[in-house]
Amino acid sequence: MLESETIRPDHATAALEAVSLPLADRDWWRGAVIYQVYPRSFQDSNGDGIGDLAGIAARLPHIAGLGVDAVWISPFMTSPMDDFGYDVSDYRDVDPIFGTLHDFDALVARAHELGLKVMIDLVLSHSSDRHPWFAESRRDRTNSRADWYVWADAKADGSPPNNWLSNFGGSSWEWDAGRQQYYLHNFLISQPDLNFNHPAVQDAMLDVTRFWLDRGVDGFRLDTVNFYVHDAELRDNPPLAEAHWNERTAPRDRPYNRQDHLYDKNRPENLAFLRRFRALLDAYPAATAIGEVGELIRGIELMGEYTRGTDRLHMCYAFDFLNTVLPEVDDIRPVIERFSQAAADGWPCWAFSNHDVVRHATRWAAGHEDREAILRLAAAILLSVRGSVCLYQGEEIGQTEAEIAYEDIVDPWGKRFWPTIKGRDGCRTPMVWESDAPQGGFTTAAHPWLPVPPEHLPMAVDRQVGQAGSLLEYYRAFLAFRRSHPALVRGDIAFLDWAPGLLAFRREFEGERIVCVFNLSGQPVDIAWPSDLERVSALGPEAGGPAKLAAGRLALGRHDSFFAQLN
Ligand code: BGC
Repeated sequence: MLESETIRPDHATAALEAVSLPLADRDWWRGAVIYQVYPRSFQDSNGDGIGDLAGIAARLPHIAGLGVDAVWISPFMTSPMDDFGYDVSDYRDVDPIFGTLHDFDALVARAHELGLKVMIDLVLSHSSDRHPWFAESRRDRTNSRADWYVWADAKADGSPPNNWLSNFGGSSWEWDAGRQQYYLHNFLISQPDLNFNHPAVQDAMLDVTRFWLDRGVDGFRLDTVNFYVHDAELRDNPPLAEAHWNERTAPRDRPYNRQDHLYDKNRPENLAFLRRFRALLDAYPAATAIGEVGELIRGIELMGEYTRGTDRLHMCYAFDFLNTVLPEVDDIRPVIERFSQAAADGWPCWAFSNHDVVRHATRWAAGHEDREAILRLAAAILLSVRGSVCLYQGEEIGQTEAEIAYEDIVDPWGKRFWPTIKGRDGCRTPMVWESDAPQGGFTTAAHPWLPVPPEHLPMAVDRQVGQAGSLLEYYRAFLAFRRSHPALVRGDIAFLDWAPGLLAFRREFEGERIVCVFNLSGQPVDIAWPSDLERVSALGPEAGGPAKLAAGRLALGRHDSFFAQLN
């Protein structure tokens, strides 16, 4: 058994496994691994310096070859691009920068041929201010879409209706001179918030969802899902109680983090819409949704609430691991345990990196003497805990956060708050494919929309693919290992008190049990690995090996008597 389960870097085998995925399985999302593509930065096919749908389609074999289940494509719908697509001006078309609906259909067809599901980003909470709905809504107080956005009168002194703040700084209310009212925007001024308390808005958004389902998409990532509904009475948010202050995850130098967001988001009324949304998805074979829950205080509990039972969302995506530096056991274990308590039957989706946060290759491993070991450890943890997983493009090759010169910054958040907040450009630089090609093979343009940092070139896919010991091959190996062990995909999780500094848990599914031990202590730890504990893989130099587990290493094993002993 040892021999047969030892992982070998064999690209062709992983690609074949991906093709044989059972597409008809309605439950495919449970434990799925989803690869996030940020379309502007994945592959440019027409030399304009910006990635596009045809480029993504051409690179799908890379994604399928990793052995993931699905691809999530960040927004590509028509948009003035103030927030790079998270400001939609037409929900039923592709922005010309990215291609056409025909390109999208071709991408979906190619993905399905390769055994990949396609999930797209639905940005329903707000639109662009250049969406025709908003143009009509702001015209006067009586037009047919007058209440499609959140409008409110000024207070007697002319100030905004309440104390709500925008995620991107300042009040979340903007004065409209035409209507002589304020409108709500939780993000940029040009991202007015749709009024989900209005049934016609809900209906319109369900129609948009149906449009994409009918085009063959397999699911959605729901942007800012906990922001859909606002408090109809527009009550002030209270200040955040001191017990919840957390300088690391929610620094108070951002005024947004000083409020308890009871009223501008997180409303219980949202559940009624989520049920309608789920009923629509259930009418399609195997359609699924992940809700992005941006909330640091009660986000985990909200995720539980949104995913429990069978009439709400399938999965929710948490922010809890998106800010941590090299974590300690207490940064991980309590989060996962809290989720299990919030909803034992709910389902989380975890990520360490995405297009909004500093890449974990930098957060976890910058300056670390054995950087690659830390990145392998990160991959192994992410792919072993209970839940589905989102991998962010480039993490499989170890792309780091890029330092962007002030004059190259394009993210409006970074432009406004630089240098205290440098914005999100550093995690959005292009994917690097070929180390010796100009711009890493991302584009033929001399100036891509964000620079390709020279230090990324040696990490390019062509340098790692098929190379034993490379990070890319480690991801492929671990993904193949995960797929062949249902306990890691769908199993329950129980944490084990092993030794200080060790993150240890057991995954169990239909009689298969796997124990996973990760050394986060920074020191070698004697793990007293029992002699009768079977080794199940060769994924880490120390796996199943000596009694001492080196710092930053993992061990996986299984044996019934061992579990009995620990219990
Ligand atoms: C997206 C961001 C975006 C924001 C507003 C988020 O959570 O991931 O990129 O700026 O929603 O749509």
